[in-house]
Amino acid sequence: MLELVTATRYVTPLREGGSLPGVVEADDLGTYVVKFRGAGQGRRVLVAEIICAELARRFGLRTPDLRIVDLDPRIGAREPDPEIQELLKASEGHNLGVDFLPGALGFDPLAWSPDRAFASRLLWFDALIHNVDRSWRNPNLLVWHGDTWLIDHGAALWFHHNWRTADPQRPFDARDHIMAPYAERIEEADAELPGLVTEDVLREVTALVPDEWLEDEPGFAGPAAVRDAYIEHLLARAHGPRAWLPEVAR
Ligand SMILES: Nc1ncnc2c1ncn2[C@@H]1O[C@H](COP(=O)(O)OP(=O)(O)OP(=O)(O)O)[C@@H](O)[C@H]1O
Ligand SMILES: [Mg+2]
Repeated sequence: MLELVTATRYVTPLREGGSLPGVVEADDLGTYVVKFRGAGQGRRVLVAEIICAELARRFGLRTPDLRIVDLDPRIGAREPDPEIQELLKASEGHNLGVDFLPGALGFDPLAWSPDRAFASRLLWFDALIHNVDRSWRNPNLLVWHGDTWLIDHGAALWFHHNWRTADPQRPFDARDHIMAPYAERIEEADAELPGLVTEDVLREVTALVPDEWLEDEPGFAGPAAVRDAYIEHLLARAHGPRAWLPEVAR
């Protein structure tokens, strides 16, 4: 399981994020960007955040540490914005905490020329997880201490909003992907990365999702069955014909 911490102070909302994440301090003296369970599309977004970030980490891609943050909405009592009050009230209990990277800058491809191998691995990874949120408009990459860090995987694995139509062979449209112009070594990524997508790794990362976020999923007997479905989907995608790999990159 991910480590559990308790929120002690609501510092500020991150208004640049569509889901209104908040910067929160916790009882381990850490500072976290909290993605709230009560926001927009709800807990599935947090499931995607965990599975994808933990998979990224096992691919050797940098992404901030994750925690489960226990929230008492009263810590935000002094926030004047009613939208934030509502969000906190709807998120009492467990939420996702992303280690806050202080002073991180948004990734700017005009300022940083991405390494071609990194660009190729990142594009392959996003294609695997169906991540539609790594465009040049909104790259969801931070530059911190000279390295590039991946954040915000909430829009990935979007097939889970309608499991019946989930298709492991669905093509990935990379035309807007931030790394499309730089992914010159996609064939190398495609030779190397499928081997990292093993059943063991997928069991490990899906096990990090709290049961409570997988309960009562329509069409599934329980959390274990939902985990199996993610595992099956990603195994089929990684080890199938991989016609989903974008043409723009090939
Ligand atoms: N771990 C972090 N450390 C520092 N800044 C962060 C971190 N996570 C997020 N941010 C900042 O907050 C913004 C919003 O975060 P994030 O993209 O995760 O939220 P979101 O609501 O899912 O956003 P979106 O509008 O892209 O869907 C980021 O663009 C970044 O500027
Ligand atoms: Mg974002």
